[in-house]
Amino acid sequence: MTIIDVINRKKAFKELSREELEFTINGYLEGSIKDYQMSALLMAILLNGMTDKEIIDLTDIMVKSGDVLDLSKIDGIIADKHSTGGVGDKVTLVLAPLLASLGIKIAKMSGRGLGHTGGTIDKLESIKGFNTKLSEEEFINQVNKINIALVSQTANLVPADKKIYALRDVTGTVDSIPLIASSVMSKKIASGADIILIDVKVGNGALMKNLDDAKKLAEKMVKIGNAYRKPTICLITNMEEPLGYAIGNSLEVLEAIDTLNGKGPSDLLEVVITLASIIIGAVKKIPNGDAQKLLFKQLNNKEAYKKFEELVKAQSGDINSIKVSDKVFSIRSDKKGYVNKINALKLGEIAKQIGAGRSTLEDKIDYEVGIVLNKKVGDYVEKEEELAKVYLSDKDISISEILSCFIIEDELKEKPKLILDIIK
Ligand code: URA
Repeated sequence: MTIIDVINRKKAFKELSREELEFTINGYLEGSIKDYQMSALLMAILLNGMTDKEIIDLTDIMVKSGDVLDLSKIDGIIADKHSTGGVGDKVTLVLAPLLASLGIKIAKMSGRGLGHTGGTIDKLESIKGFNTKLSEEEFINQVNKINIALVSQTANLVPADKKIYALRDVTGTVDSIPLIASSVMSKKIASGADIILIDVKVGNGALMKNLDDAKKLAEKMVKIGNAYRKPTICLITNMEEPLGYAIGNSLEVLEAIDTLNGKGPSDLLEVVITLASIIIGAVKKIPNGDAQKLLFKQLNNKEAYKKFEELVKAQSGDINSIKVSDKVFSIRSDKKGYVNKINALKLGEIAKQIGAGRSTLEDKIDYEVGIVLNKKVGDYVEKEEELAKVYLSDKDISISEILSCFIIEDELKEKPKLILDIIK
């Protein structure tokens, strides 16, 4: 077998066998298959797709390319949550301590920002001292002790995905449903949780731009989860506008803290409560209405916030250290009307340009910068009223570019739904 045979078979819409996929993935990891050959195969997969059997085989080969965490030393059911990536998506920072405050075990490995989307690990590192690199033993002990640990992925968790993802990023092959499904699920399976919940974002600020594709991706991930007998539930949520008001690392942590104290934005709260009640329902077998009451109680009586404080302390962070830039620029509307659209993708890119994200792997994040919206879709704005504040340090912004992210019209349009579907 040669890699050319494999590429030619995929080019001819043939189903690749497990042996062919093993030969390819292992060969690529070892270096006998070159970047340019793998790129050709990835493009053939993007264009011609994969069968369910190929996707499940590919996921399994990727899982076995590195370590698989054994979380059997943690007592109780362990839940994991993942987002396919959005703008202002600080859901994990609220959801994880909220569930942990109710006794659910959260042993979670998170990622860093990718493209215009932020990552939980970068957000946590905006808290001075917060250690995201625990050993496996420390990770397990902490979950047993306080129900929660949030850490960055260890170097040897699905190394095949790391190498392939980096190549996809620079070869226009990220937005392939089989490749995304196997990439996300290989990391979830290798991380060892019992229940997997995935927030599939759809819309302008997300990888999936339309609902049909988001549903297809969700169905593939549920099938992979089923193949491992791990209950997998996908929530499809709208990412046409940023989630909540804050974009940028420290700013998002502060908004998450407000939410944990019962004072969060309604859209963020809706996603958190929906995801959390699915997990509570699955683990504790409580009806949805009762689960929601319980969750609101944990937010209003500060138990969820206290769990977050406990988490920060356990991982050596100083919760009083969170700082935002004092160089603040107000963006004011040049007309009056209803805000009918806010371009999440473009705002995510602007936040990245001013330092909230990385353009190259070597870039250093500026935790103190970002954007805080003052208006959301559906709000009315007067001429000269503030649309957003930009927190800057050493980079400049273009006011007209930020203004162009807001579509303001005389007539109010119907606001799109936030939770679009649940697939399990
Ligand atoms: N997130 C991942 O982990 N992998 C993808 O392929 C896309 C988003």
